[in-house]
Amino acid sequence: MTKTQQALALEAAVEAAQAAGSLMRPNLHRTKKVNSTDIHDIKLDLDVRCQKLITRLLAKRLPHIPLLGEEGCDDSTEHAEQRWVVDPIDGTVNFALGIPHAAVSIALQRRTSEGFVSEVGVTFDPFMDELWTAVRGGKARRNGQVIRVSSRKRLDQAVVSLGFPGGKKGLEVMIRDLGKLTHCVMKLRIMGSAALALAYVADGRFDAFVETGLKLWDVAAGGLIVESAGGEFWSRPQPELFHYSINANNGHLRSALEKVIRG
Ligand code: IPD
Repeated sequence: MTKTQQALALEAAVEAAQAAGSLMRPNLHRTKKVNSTDIHDIKLDLDVRCQKLITRLLAKRLPHIPLLGEEGCDDSTEHAEQRWVVDPIDGTVNFALGIPHAAVSIALQRRTSEGFVSEVGVTFDPFMDELWTAVRGGKARRNGQVIRVSSRKRLDQAVVSLGFPGGKKGLEVMIRDLGKLTHCVMKLRIMGSAALALAYVADGRFDAFVETGLKLWDVAAGGLIVESAGGEFWSRPQPELFHYSINANNGHLRSALEKVIRG
């Protein structure tokens, strides 16, 4: 992808993420329409409304790029050369309960011989007004300022974030990991938005983020932002479509984390 194409896509993604954020912000403390719930998840009408708004704005700027989102997906994404990957509200449970820790996540991905790679990534936290961006080959930024991952190399000095997914299998893995990691790291954090956990790793706030059972739209933007900030974004696909096990870290901690988790 050329630099100009990346720049156009970045502009479109930023505009769409900020527009969705503007819809989220005034609704944080309001009673929200719930479309469905299950034991570990809530789906809001606002998830759907935000995705519709994002879809409309992206299509206005860059028509013909199909979209794969948490709230539904264009049929043509399967054979497309490029696709948008969108989580309109990452951290829906937080947002539903009025906890101001949720974000909009938008990535543009390009097909390669090894699968899709993210070319552009945008994560927007409308409650802190923090916008993280990255384009492949460039630096990661927060509100325009270049950011970098932390430099901590020791697990016993590290702040490690974990995520607890909705699915049973992923949850069981995470419960096991939590038990193993608790005594080996300085602090664990479970904050409920994978997109923000990845942005926080990129920004040096967390040293690592680990979750099994995440979906593509939770990580497509954040993974690129971590890599562009000098960190490592490791992911392994799981048998379920679009599900991944991920380890995002400052570039120093994966093997130490894996030793504990697998040990
Ligand atoms: C969820 C959040 C949460 C993570 C779950 C995700 P959603 O995304 O990122 O932190 O643990 O695995 O599904 O449903 O709020 O968009």
